[in-house]
Amino acid sequence: MIEKINRLKEEVECATAATPEAVEELRIKYLSKKGALNALMADFRNVPAESKREVGQKLNELKTFVTEKINGLKEQLSAGSDLEAASIDLTRTATPFPTGSRHPLSIVKNDIIDIFSRMGFTIAEGPEIEDDWHVFSSLNFPPDHPARDMQDTFFVTRTPVDVLLRTHTSSVQTRVMEKTQPPIRIVCPGRVYRNEAISARAHCFFHQVEGLYIDRNVSFADLKQVLLTFAKEMFGPETKIRLRPSFFPFTEPSAEMDISCDICGGKGCAFCKGTGWVEILGCGMVDPNVLRSCGIDPEVYTGYAFGMGIERITNLKYKVKDLRMFSENDVRFLEEFESAR
Ligand code: PHE
Repeated sequence: MIEKINRLKEEVECATAATPEAVEELRIKYLSKKGALNALMADFRNVPAESKREVGQKLNELKTFVTEKINGLKEQLSAGSDLEAASIDLTRTATPFPTGSRHPLSIVKNDIIDIFSRMGFTIAEGPEIEDDWHVFSSLNFPPDHPARDMQDTFFVTRTPVDVLLRTHTSSVQTRVMEKTQPPIRIVCPGRVYRNEAISARAHCFFHQVEGLYIDRNVSFADLKQVLLTFAKEMFGPETKIRLRPSFFPFTEPSAEMDISCDICGGKGCAFCKGTGWVEILGCGMVDPNVLRSCGIDPEVYTGYAFGMGIERITNLKYKVKDLRMFSENDVRFLEEFESAR
């Protein structure tokens, strides 16, 4: 027995390990339940009574020895990795990592949404592929209205019902009005499509944010105040607004809103064609026919709506001259907006 103990001690003494896994293997080999040490302990029963004391002591010494040896090996290894870590220079500048930048239209869209959400509007979104009802019929467009024409609208199918690419996000307003009773206070951002030849000033798709507020006693004065607040927040506190009478099938009365030209400060320049004003949006009081067709009682509720093109606002804010830049993905153009947000 004593001999076995000595042999095991020698064996452990010579053991080496290069990895934490190898140390673990040694631990299992010698110290686990089925390990060599426990096997010796089991043999202890057969030791004659007079040697028990001596052998017991030796066994205990061996256990301590093996435990210390394995712990020692573990420590050596972790000291090694500390050394390796110490050779890494943490003060070196990191390799620059290009992160890209937000698209100018997204920056401006987020700005617009931000301003209106501070005035209590929430975001509503809807499908880009729509039916005639949500884009036109529910919004009081007469059957022969030119906007329904092939020249303006991209149709997906015409039978059995007209399925088309939405020409404005007013369709989302219809969807919300059909499902909810007032008060409704939403902005609808999204992409819209119109069949136009692509040039610096027109594109076959662009982006809008439209707004809708319906409640008891909503008036044109409320609309005007909300739009004035928006214009000042978006273009600066000096900005003035002007409303001109206009026509939309879904609002009555309707208006178009201009802001004072922020290039010449209203004096008149090439950008505002000498007028001192630039048009930015359409608006009006929701036509009672629209409320009725969406299941809202126009005798109880009134509301206003407005809609603007994000490209238009972006052009004014960042002086982008060619609409095509927004969809060409030229990184030299996109990188110009890195610092904008
Ligand atoms: N839907 C209109 C457009 O696409 C904009 C608008 C919205 C006008 C709401 C008035 C009221 O041009």
